[in-house]
Amino acid sequence: MDRKETDIYLRLDPARLPQHIAIIMDGNGRWARRRHMPRVAGHRAGVAAVRSTVETAARIGIPALTLYAFSEENWKKRPKSEVDFLMRLLCRYLKAEIKTLNENNIRLKYIGRQHELPESVQREMAEASGATSKNTGMLLTLALNYSARSEIVDAFRSLAEAASRNGGLDHMQVDEQLISDHLYTRGLPDPDLVIRTSGEMRLSNFLLWQLAYAEIYVTQTLWPDFRGAQLLEGIEEYQKRDRRYGGLAPDGQPQRTTRAHAEAKRR
Ligand code: FPP
Repeated sequence: MDRKETDIYLRLDPARLPQHIAIIMDGNGRWARRRHMPRVAGHRAGVAAVRSTVETAARIGIPALTLYAFSEENWKKRPKSEVDFLMRLLCRYLKAEIKTLNENNIRLKYIGRQHELPESVQREMAEASGATSKNTGMLLTLALNYSARSEIVDAFRSLAEAASRNGGLDHMQVDEQLISDHLYTRGLPDPDLVIRTSGEMRLSNFLLWQLAYAEIYVTQTLWPDFRGAQLLEGIEEYQKRDRRYGGLAPDGQPQRTTRAHAEAKRR
């Protein structure tokens, strides 16, 4: 940790760290344009930001980190040359990072329609997740070819199949837990904090179900300039928020509710 990170870290309450942080990495293109460089240079510079963020999150004991790397829409709306570059960058990242992920006890997983990605990329992805599957520390989830609406469509399909195996929906308990169990993120707690870089105020089809109660932190920093220190700033801001999950603060005092409390209250 550098000096800046240490200073912010010392101001954090270790007992109230978010259990799951989701990040919309945005602004690579703008970062490059400001430097009169091609867009892909921004993506390349974005890898250093991924590295620093992942390492800091793991080091301070965040149990789960999910990064929105490529949306489903990214494929359809960007030039093939940029998409090909992103694919090569991802493969290179996966190959190069296995060692560091293992040193930091990080387990790697993916969400999104993986089967639509090029086979060579899928192979690299399987290799990296397999090589880190025994780790017991932070779970790093990369959203690749991800769309929250497609995830919900896939959950419906999977639910319909489960229903037909179980003699129809009437024989199943249809509730929020059931829906959560059919999403790509099954087993993961919902994010407490979602960070978006480069100032845009949108969720962009990211984890729409799971972010229902998340605190939103938007920073003007462009993704390639984001580092562990900026992650800690986001966590510091999160710890100042008054999380009510639809409830009221009893006496106008800030109500610092833990997730477990709030969940118990909602039941
Ligand atoms: C958004 O910037 C970023 C992306 C679409 C790609 C994210 C990829 C990386 C950070 C690097 C590779 C990732 C991994 C996991 C190794 P943008 O191009 O939409 O920026 P703009 O809005 O300024 O144009």
